[in-house]
Amino acid sequence: MKLLVVGGGGREHAIIKTLKKSEGVEKIYALPGNGGIALDAECYPIKATELDKIVEFAVEKKIDYAVIAPDDPLVMGLVNRLEEVGVPCFGPRSEAAIIEGSKVFSKNLMKKYGIPTGDSVTFTNYDDAVNYLKTTDYPTVIKADGLALGKGVIIAGTYEEAVSAVKEIMLDKVFGASGNSILIEEFMTGPEVSVLSFTDGNVVIPMVSSMDHKRAKDNDEGLNTGGMGTIAPNPYYTEEIAKECMETIFVPTIKAMKEEGRTFKGCLYFGLMLTPKGPKVIEYNCRFGDPETQVVLPLLESDLLKIMQATTNGTLTEDMVKFSSGACACVVMASNGYPQKYQSGFEITLPTLGANEDVFVAGAKLEGGVLKTAGGRVLGAVASASDLETAVKNAYQVANKIKFENAYMRSDIGKRALSCLKK
Ligand code: AMP
Ligand code: GLY
Repeated sequence: MKLLVVGGGGREHAIIKTLKKSEGVEKIYALPGNGGIALDAECYPIKATELDKIVEFAVEKKIDYAVIAPDDPLVMGLVNRLEEVGVPCFGPRSEAAIIEGSKVFSKNLMKKYGIPTGDSVTFTNYDDAVNYLKTTDYPTVIKADGLALGKGVIIAGTYEEAVSAVKEIMLDKVFGASGNSILIEEFMTGPEVSVLSFTDGNVVIPMVSSMDHKRAKDNDEGLNTGGMGTIAPNPYYTEEIAKECMETIFVPTIKAMKEEGRTFKGCLYFGLMLTPKGPKVIEYNCRFGDPETQVVLPLLESDLLKIMQATTNGTLTEDMVKFSSGACACVVMASNGYPQKYQSGFEITLPTLGANEDVFVAGAKLEGGVLKTAGGRVLGAVASASDLETAVKNAYQVANKIKFENAYMRSDIGKRALSCLKK
């Protein structure tokens, strides 16, 4: 089979490396891919949002199956477009991808179907929002309705901060039309858990849980980033909580989407907070998480392509998805300065990898056969082991053998999870 993977980050590299192990895969193309992905797939410089060009490419290369990894093309309707020309896809159609594309939509869905989430009020008018801010408790959470490159959530400690966030989103339109509507949501507390799931629209199968580390600096300080590291499984997510989430969140969400005529197929990502009042949904994503995928897929023992095709065909069953009982850790190596200004173009030296080790490349390009840094998050150093402590130690060992100028990584990935395990 000829596969196409749309996207070009560490998540896509992990997906491609896993798909290479699937039965019947002859060739994998990546659009646009990156310098590291180019070592595992044939990359072409077509952006994930260039829908016309992607459709043309898929037809020309006679693609048998396409995996759409990032949110933008899913929300823009790439799956709809590819299906029209007879290319089956992994990922939701646009009418279902709206679960990530509009926070107002997903909040209304949860309210309508009684799915636990933070209380919130929606506003389309700046003055009304500001009036509400005079009466609410602090901290409070402001969310732009639409996609905002992961920056559309602001936690405001004071009234002044909240007004300035609402002004930036609704009047200055820093996220464009994504800020036409906003949510003002109650501030919740508790450990966060990412649960990715496979679903064919009827059956939902959660993958092993994970924990992201979103802040740039150790001890969860510094600016919010795309994710500086991950571990799986997440020790806060006990079997008991998993059962509760299945009953109160996962199954009801899949049913609700079907009921609304928006059957969701692909990977549905549940961003959960384990609050004192029980697990609640912080956000849904219509895709694999990044860098969660980098620790979840190495633990998958089943054939990824078979599972993906079953989500498309509506034939997903429990026995198709098996994860190992071990643990996995990913330490992201970034360009110093990320998520703000940084320099790139430095040569990357990769080590020889052991059996349970991997490197998933995100921001790098190949120049004359030499891998060079070309982004904020450069790569993820990954290791799996029978226990989390060893996985974390080994992931750091891999990272310490990788060399490039201006490399930066957090030194405490997995620390919170390990302290939870020791309690
Ligand atoms: P998102 O961009 O939706 O991933 O949100 C970014 C982060 O904001 C989440 O991972 C949470 O840490 C935090 N967050 C979002 N909503 C809330 C909330 N209602 N209460 C507390 N923290 C929140
Ligand atoms: N790691 C968070 C996300 O993929 O949205």
